[in-house]
Amino acid sequence: MRRAKIVSVGSYAPKRILTNADLEKVIETSDEWIVQRTGIRERHIAEEGEVTSDLAVRAAQQALERANLVPEDVDFIVVGTTSPDMPFPSTANFVQHKLGAPRAGSVDVQAACTGSIYSLSIGAQYIQTGKYRTVLCIGAEILSRITDFTDRGTCILLADAAGAAVLQPSGDGSGVIDADLYSEGKYWEYLYQPGGGTKHPASHETVDARMHFAKMKGNEVFKVAVRMFGDCAATILERNGFTARDVDLFIPHQANLRIIEAAVKRLGLPMEKVLVNVDRYGNTGAASVYVALEEAWSLGRVKPGDLLLLAAFGGGFTWGAALVRW
Ligand code: UT7
Repeated sequence: MRRAKIVSVGSYAPKRILTNADLEKVIETSDEWIVQRTGIRERHIAEEGEVTSDLAVRAAQQALERANLVPEDVDFIVVGTTSPDMPFPSTANFVQHKLGAPRAGSVDVQAACTGSIYSLSIGAQYIQTGKYRTVLCIGAEILSRITDFTDRGTCILLADAAGAAVLQPSGDGSGVIDADLYSEGKYWEYLYQPGGGTKHPASHETVDARMHFAKMKGNEVFKVAVRMFGDCAATILERNGFTARDVDLFIPHQANLRIIEAAVKRLGLPMEKVLVNVDRYGNTGAASVYVALEEAWSLGRVKPGDLLLLAAFGGGFTWGAALVRW
């Protein structure tokens, strides 16, 4: 089967920056606590009126331009998001329209922060089977809109951004080598948004109870994440006949520096081989791996032939990893 090559990447983060010092003014916290426990120093927050598909379109346009492609070339759009423009239609549907991609089918993937690996994997399948030639994989979030800024356990973490990757058939063996996707629904109460669905339809009561905001048991997420995240990254390497030494760059989901460090230790990788930007972006959910990949590319940290290991985890619980030959 032919591989799906990542022919270009793009990203976009809203201009407005919220620093730890800004948060100190609205909640009982400190820059020192946030940096020590999470590694986050600042994050980007969308402007009023800006919606998730706007961020996604910016990232997609950059990726398409870099590949010398036009929206008319796009066959399929898959968007990982947990903060869609609306419950329906899908955010991918809005992206298709705003981008002006007349031939493209479009669909959202809801896998919380693992939406990055899920969307990349789903997009790659369509290339591998020969069904499509150009697939736009996107992760986009405005998590600040589902964040309770009175809850200091979550509002220090969650933020806004979008990243995109254009996939096309590979002619030289580069591309997505493998991707593993996992889920375990029994952990759903560790991280979820209770209101607005069929279980608790939106009502005055759900809004008064702040059920439209994300709820998180941070400690529980932390423990499960460290285990799942490191294990799935190790598993995909082993199954494909690689060791940590073969990895040129590890691009993990940027949720918390301590979780990244624990996974890296478990894998036996030096930190020089890890892309970390959580300090400047916070946790941007399904966008984070794409945004980090774009940063790695922009900085010249990925070269043709490099082996990239991507991994993410998120609410659900969901987790997964991908191996990419650049
Ligand atoms: O994509 C997946 C998304 N989620 C995650 O990855 C989250 C994973 N979990 C975490 O990142 C961490 O659990 C947190 C950063 C959320 C919390 O860090 P922690 O080291 O697990 O702290 P904790 O929840 O055990 O709380 C320790 C103390 C508590 O005070 P007491 O009860 O010991 O007096 C909290 O009330 O820290 C307090 N605390 C804070 N203090 C200052 C919690 N949040 C804050 C805060 N500022 N923002």
